[in-house]
Amino acid sequence: MKIAVIGANGQLGSDLVAAFSEAGDEVRALTHSEIEIADFHSISSVLEVIQPQVIVNTAALHNVEHCEREPAKAFAVNALGAKNLALVARDLRAVLAHVSTDYVFDGSKGNPYVEEDNPRPLNAYGITKLAGEHFIRSTTDRHFVIRTSGLYGKSPCRAKGGLNFIELMLKLAKERDELRVVDSEVITPTSTAELAQQIVRLSHSDCYGLYHATAEGSCSWYEFAQEIFALTGTSVRLNVAAPDEFPAKVARPKYSVLENRALKTQGLNLFRPWQGGLYEYLGQRIKSASHPVCN
Ligand SMILES: NC(=O)c1ccc[n+]([C@@H]2O[C@H](COP(=O)([O-])OP(=O)(O)OC[C@H]3O[C@@H](n4cnc5c(N)ncnc54)[C@H](OP(=O)(O)O)[C@@H]3O)[C@@H](O)[C@H]2O)c1
Repeated sequence: MKIAVIGANGQLGSDLVAAFSEAGDEVRALTHSEIEIADFHSISSVLEVIQPQVIVNTAALHNVEHCEREPAKAFAVNALGAKNLALVARDLRAVLAHVSTDYVFDGSKGNPYVEEDNPRPLNAYGITKLAGEHFIRSTTDRHFVIRTSGLYGKSPCRAKGGLNFIELMLKLAKERDELRVVDSEVITPTSTAELAQQIVRLSHSDCYGLYHATAEGSCSWYEFAQEIFALTGTSVRLNVAAPDEFPAKVARPKYSVLENRALKTQGLNLFRPWQGGLYEYLGQRIKSASHPVCN
């Protein structure tokens, strides 16, 4: 199939390009310099030339604090951008696979959210992403709206800048004797390499709809750090941060664990427990350190 990946040099986008290529698909990798999803004409002119069968969108304004400061900009990209993509996908008779977020929920449920649960976002990021979901679901039937959580991958997250959580913990552990990490936010760390395989699997099906797509299980950021240090044999004193030690500037759900119910019902769920993805990431990291790529 011919696949257009938008946000192709991002954390998830780069793994999607690799995963679709490995699956034998013809991939057109589109970066922000080539396409602007907030601009309908940019999308239609680029995609009309490519004529993809599947459009995969990872692009978003998803730095939570940035969205809160500039909600109109966040709406233009996350909501109207999604609408633009849905309109163009419908015109081109293409399938749209769009990545959304666990932040559409407020976290009060306290056990894993399924696709049928009522969203209630707490911040501008979640509100604009949810609006994007609605625009897509009401514009084209041939969609996959894929909510995920806690992404990490070998390419850095461009919106958040710098290191992913794993790399940050390993760097800080080298620099300090003691680390303090919050225990009050529960998520599911999800490897972009695994999510990319899941999106390829969905895109090769016609089981359109709304999907939760994260690794299995859950942990707090503190427990995630614990596992990173255990698997890498890193010795550092790790403690739970005091509740007011790192005050959040923007309201976030305290519990945003997703259950992949729709994937399981369709027999399409590829995810394993989150520790497996972490183990593989750390293994790849060791391999690339011992075989550095020469430029
Ligand atoms: N990261 C997480 O933990 C997480 C959790 C749940 C859901 N998600 C969702 O997952 C998706 C992918 O996340 P990621 O971590 O891979 O993000 P990322 O590394 O920041 O990649 C996003 C890509 O989209 C491009 N982009 C941004 N705005 C654009 C626009 N207006 N038009 C066209 N391209 C644009 C970026 O290019 P530039 O950098 O050049 O602008 C970048 O290549 C997002 O939709 C996000 O909402 C992420």
